[in-house]
Amino acid sequence: MPFYHRLGDMPQKRHVQFRKPDGKLYREEVMGLEGFSGLQSILYHHFLPPRVLRVESLGPAQPEYADFGPLRHRAFGTKDIPSGGDAVSAKRVLLGNSDVTLGVSRPTDSMDYFYRNAQSYEVWFTHEGSGVLHTQFGKLPFRAGDYIVIPYGTTWKMDLEEKEARFFVIESATQIETPSHWRNKHGQMNEHAPYTERDFRVPEELEMHTERGEFQVRVKARNQISLHVLDHHPFDVVGWDGYLYPWIFNIHDYEPITGMLHKPPPSHLTFRGWNFVICSFVPRQFDYHPEAIPTPYNHSNVNSDEVLYYCDGNFMSRKGIGKYDITLHPSGLPHGPQPGATEASIGKKRTDELAVMVDTFRPLDVAVPALELEKNEYMNSWMEGDGE
Ligand SMILES: [Fe+2]
Repeated sequence: MPFYHRLGDMPQKRHVQFRKPDGKLYREEVMGLEGFSGLQSILYHHFLPPRVLRVESLGPAQPEYADFGPLRHRAFGTKDIPSGGDAVSAKRVLLGNSDVTLGVSRPTDSMDYFYRNAQSYEVWFTHEGSGVLHTQFGKLPFRAGDYIVIPYGTTWKMDLEEKEARFFVIESATQIETPSHWRNKHGQMNEHAPYTERDFRVPEELEMHTERGEFQVRVKARNQISLHVLDHHPFDVVGWDGYLYPWIFNIHDYEPITGMLHKPPPSHLTFRGWNFVICSFVPRQFDYHPEAIPTPYNHSNVNSDEVLYYCDGNFMSRKGIGKYDITLHPSGLPHGPQPGATEASIGKKRTDELAVMVDTFRPLDVAVPALELEKNEYMNSWMEGDGE
């Protein structure tokens, strides 16, 4: 996160003696990216951080991909994917490459173990539901519309407040960050950015536990899950400060950039990782030129695959696509509004659509669980009418 935050207790200087009330030392941990050169935070633990009672392998955690077949536009309906389990165990990867995977999760249960993804940044876009993400950095209450961004190595546990939740989950091999052109040279958000620092929610309440016992942490690293059983509660942090911590941005806080004529997807840019971007399509006014065409023009995303997760509202340019659907418009062929959609959009003043888009700069593979969700008729949806 590009701003400094601190929570709890810590000494005035780093790397000095910091003692508990009983005189024993708190244990300092520097947690950072890029070998002490990237974002980092310093945490003060009650227990020694490397202490693990026992370790065990829980098996591989790599998506299985299917043969793509002939190049075509594809769509997947996730409305009726089975619900159940906790957020992590309910997650199904549907699309992916070595930069990023995209999936959905429809949990009904809170987690009864802790989880740490040591190989990816995770973005949990909360389509439906609410709850609390508990982390060693503190609590993050979340609600519908929240992008919950969790850096590598964060230990967390998600509690749900409703019977069911639904997430679109982005797992990134690289850091998730705000686009640099929306920040000044000091890192502050620029005045023309579609959000400001005020829109980010950060941990405000620490949960410091000193209980002993057996605590399960499932760790994802090297494309497998390891079970680490600790002899102490993993949330034993009395204080921390720095730039590396989980945070939340709500899609409804995105201030859409609109204009006289159609604005392309970079105007919806929200976050980026290496080789992909995340964009937010939110309710907004349409273009105000008297002869404007509000729907997008046909476009060839020549070197990127485009994925849209449809959340809410009416998607004017898409026929046969509804809430919870995912479309994949791969590089190599043009796409655009279905027959009649362009004409129908003329004169419209605003849209209530809500969608999350991920554009990847390398092709995405389709994971095996996506095949049974596929809407095979999607490619034919441009074939109605006489083609003019
Ligand atoms: Fe597109």
